[in-house]
Amino acid sequence: MSRVKIAVIPAAGFGTRMLPATKAIPKELLPVVDRPVIDYVASEAIEAGIEHIVFVVSRGKEPIETYFDHQPELEAQLIAAGKTAYLEQVLRPMMNQGRSSFVRQGKALGLGHAIWSARHVVGDQPFAVLLPDVICTGTPGATRRLVELHAETGGCAITVNPVPDGEVHKYGIIRPDSAGPDAHGRVGVTGLVEKPARGTQPSNLAITGRYVLTPDVFDHLETAETGAGGEIQLTDSMVKLIGHGPFHAVVTEDPVYDCGDQLGWLEANLGMARRQPAIWDGLADRGWVTR
Ligand code: G1P
Repeated sequence: MSRVKIAVIPAAGFGTRMLPATKAIPKELLPVVDRPVIDYVASEAIEAGIEHIVFVVSRGKEPIETYFDHQPELEAQLIAAGKTAYLEQVLRPMMNQGRSSFVRQGKALGLGHAIWSARHVVGDQPFAVLLPDVICTGTPGATRRLVELHAETGGCAITVNPVPDGEVHKYGIIRPDSAGPDAHGRVGVTGLVEKPARGTQPSNLAITGRYVLTPDVFDHLETAETGAGGEIQLTDSMVKLIGHGPFHAVVTEDPVYDCGDQLGWLEANLGMARRQPAIWDGLADRGWVTR
């Protein structure tokens, strides 16, 4: 079975729900505790064995490229000052030496169009997709679980999380097969619907923004049909792969933080701060949280 070596991170969106903060800063670079959101996501890809990340960007997203590159003057200064801990943090996200590509999505036509924009770099191989608004917690990481599943099946795989009825309209929702999840939380997918109206959803299992897809999805994205919200949806092309090869979902119970709006971003900060005792204790000392 083929190994997944390449990932696409679509980072071209405006970040409308986080305005005005995102007027001058890409939403993907907003910090969650100490790191930009996209840093968590790229790290998850690297942990999964991904060797090359294709960032799909748009005008104004140049700072993302800068973030994943060397900053020689800063590095020299940190070395001279003996600030090795900071130096490690500056060097850690480095994606140079031919391990990243940046492609432009000329128009904001939807997630499906963004992924389609990466087709020439991805080529004819399976690939991962990680949405950079979303921090998926859990060990091993969500993408690693999908890469391992693909190694077994050779097909598509996505992670899903249960959401309440009142939130199904915000997500892609799966129809799981009648056998239900196995002991590893893996379930066959028999249908998908993007942002169903409440009451029409085939389940409460929502796509968390992590995918391993086979390259034939590009054939369907090519038709550029619009779906929910008048956008070219990735989910609509994924539906067309069902029945033509294995398609599984992994149900995860680990917290998933959608940093795309204020509440989710704040929750992500609290969720990730809880993993850093020095910060969490500091918040507790000041009465914001309990230990
Ligand atoms: C996208 C996907 C959706 C998925 C969601 C996860 O929607 O289209 O299927 O459930 O990400 O965050 P968006 O958040 O871009 O509207």
